[in-house]
Amino acid sequence: MDATPDFIQDALRENSNSPSYPVTTGAPDLRAALKDYCVRYLGAQGDFDVLPTVGSKELVAQLPFLLQAKTILIPEIAYPTYRVGGILAGAEVVEVGIDAQHWPTSGVDMAWINSPSNPTGRVHSQVELDSVLEWSKKSGAIIASDECYLPFPDKNQGLSILASSSGNNANIIAVHSLSKRSNMAGYRGAFVVGDPALISRLLEIRKHMGMMAPLPIQKSVTVALSDQRHVEEQAERYRARRRILKQSLEGCRLHY
Ligand SMILES: Cc1ncc(COP(=O)(O)O)c(C=O)c1O
Repeated sequence: MDATPDFIQDALRENSNSPSYPVTTGAPDLRAALKDYCVRYLGAQGDFDVLPTVGSKELVAQLPFLLQAKTILIPEIAYPTYRVGGILAGAEVVEVGIDAQHWPTSGVDMAWINSPSNPTGRVHSQVELDSVLEWSKKSGAIIASDECYLPFPDKNQGLSILASSSGNNANIIAVHSLSKRSNMAGYRGAFVVGDPALISRLLEIRKHMGMMAPLPIQKSVTVALSDQRHVEEQAERYRARRRILKQSLEGCRLHY
């Protein structure tokens, strides 16, 4: 695990005096930074809203419950928390392949997609994302797109679902995290972005169930989002490690 960049640690220290309750919806400077990031780096267009969360794992585990989803689709090879969230909500969890043309179009409330994927690293193509969007229109179900590895492409650059929706963000929510982007897993800084009506539903419940992001963390996330250089440096570190891994595997006659 690489260190949290110094300028982010400084922001945490400088904002340690935090006697008031933080605002669930996020401090104005954080909201502005999130919206700017979503337009600039995710290609978000049209009407969308943002909501800071305590980690993205916590949000993934709670989302089906928060949205009262009773049947959810998850990738057949997936990060385990998608299933856990479904179980916690008492929902039926159905595993599906990548191609949304084969997904059921009735009796489904939401579907998780994850690109780049954990654990496979696979990146959805534009055609695959378009097909997921088409499915959502047909089924009326919510797409929850976990994009926490988007800042670190491997062979292919991933695309946010928000860059593909042509500004029609109804029933779309994307999940992002500072854990990987800025090596801040211990801070639990993350956010969701998408359909303002869905964000408003989440906000209303979260106002009363707690889980507001602590203010020193909100400030640290705001500062982290203002810099892209540390993300590029981290991406280069990962590329260098992959090159070494590839060489070692090929030395053992294994293909990477
Ligand atoms: C696909 C995926 N989503 C979400 C998370 C959660 O990240 P965090 O809770 O640190 O934001 C992880 C963590 O490994 C992950 O692999």
